[in-house]
Amino acid sequence: MDPSIGDDLIRLDWYRDHGPPHHLWTKLRAESPVHYCVPEDILPFWAITRHADICEVSKQPETYRNSPGITLIPSDRLPSDREKGLGAMRSVIDMDPPEHRVYRKVGSPWFTPNAVRSVDAVVTESARTLVDRMAGKTGEGECDFATEVAVAHPLRILSTILGVPREQEPEILRLTNLMFSTGDEELRGEGEGTAMELLEKAGLEFYALFAKIIEDRRAHPSGDLASVLANGRVNGEPMGPMETFGYYLIVFTAGHDTTKNAIASGMHALIEHPEELEKLRRNPDLAKPAVEEIVRWTSPVNYMKRTATRDVELRGQRIREGEDLVLFYASANRDEAVFDDPFEFRIDRRPNPHLGFGIGEHFCLGANLARRSQQALLRELASRLEWVELAGEPERIRANFVVGIKHLPIRYRIKPRA
Ligand code: HEM
Repeated sequence: MDPSIGDDLIRLDWYRDHGPPHHLWTKLRAESPVHYCVPEDILPFWAITRHADICEVSKQPETYRNSPGITLIPSDRLPSDREKGLGAMRSVIDMDPPEHRVYRKVGSPWFTPNAVRSVDAVVTESARTLVDRMAGKTGEGECDFATEVAVAHPLRILSTILGVPREQEPEILRLTNLMFSTGDEELRGEGEGTAMELLEKAGLEFYALFAKIIEDRRAHPSGDLASVLANGRVNGEPMGPMETFGYYLIVFTAGHDTTKNAIASGMHALIEHPEELEKLRRNPDLAKPAVEEIVRWTSPVNYMKRTATRDVELRGQRIREGEDLVLFYASANRDEAVFDDPFEFRIDRRPNPHLGFGIGEHFCLGANLARRSQQALLRELASRLEWVELAGEPERIRANFVVGIKHLPIRYRIKPRA
């Protein structure tokens, strides 16, 4: 198969116009599951498309490392770019063992299923308020579900746990959009400059915002996540400033864009599969498996990159030390060797061993929170939505890393709160 297929796997315009390239991944899974790609403007990489191979790579963090970076590298990037702005900040997703485990432990107690229940009240209240707002006075209405609901729900939850004041929510939203969507003109905003310059600028602005919160939580610690991170210790010493800041940044950015995209693309999937929506309306308890199916179906994190630390063989291919591997979760989540009828969207799919939250060493730290917050919103919608339809064409983000829908015009009728 042509090595230039790599361009088509990551072409931003394709993602915007058609969504992820499932037709190519299906071909690769069958014919060349570990495939060397030489795209035009991106450094070469191995495309890993089968579920089993992604599990194998993810479970060997000593052989396949994150620290050289987890996103594709433009071929014109200067080595010094990584040391600037965001590049100099360190977070768990850029670390490898043994360091990774030590830092992950600082935040992980807060993210256990039990601990996450402490924010149930915030999660439920956010879901109810948003659905009330959709309902308005008459119950019937139209909205852009992506910008008015999907964006707002995780924004409120993350701002609460990270101590961001409400009046600064729009600001933090602007920064996270900028960071994840430098390829999308609308989301990146008015900013002038290259993607690298915009990222650097966003990093510095985030720093200013979080620095105030960190200072406050050190002076007045409470039990919230903001305090846990601000007062985090590593090997008996306070966590360094770049690591503390990196933690805030990864929790906010990894938590917001992903959940927003799962919610918006999930609603789109339900509208496109009315029989599944009907199932959910009849039985809101299906919100739990429905969230898993939505994450499988939409795979908001399209891929993560790893770098081989030594020459290694994977499914008969010789991968050399220093070469990059791109783990396409969205492909693994349609792997016919693992899922029955993978191209069918079924909210009650069981078992559902999707890789939407990754697997192994770096398995999504926020998965419990992501699940609970989506379940709360879906349950509220399921029990109150009488009907819903598209009120215009959905628009996808021009991005290939965290992917999804940025505008979803819908029309609906919603029952009042019970
Ligand atoms: C639907 C929503 C979400 C999806 C699809 C998602 C997906 C992912 C994926 C695929 C990874 C990498 C896993 C790997 O390399 O094996 C990851 C890592 C991570 N996620 Fe999530 N995530 C979501 C929500 C959240 C939330 C709400 C938070 C925090 C509040 C969060 C925080 C993190 C962090 C900190 C990491 C890095 C973990 C590490 O390196 O040890 N994520 N996520």
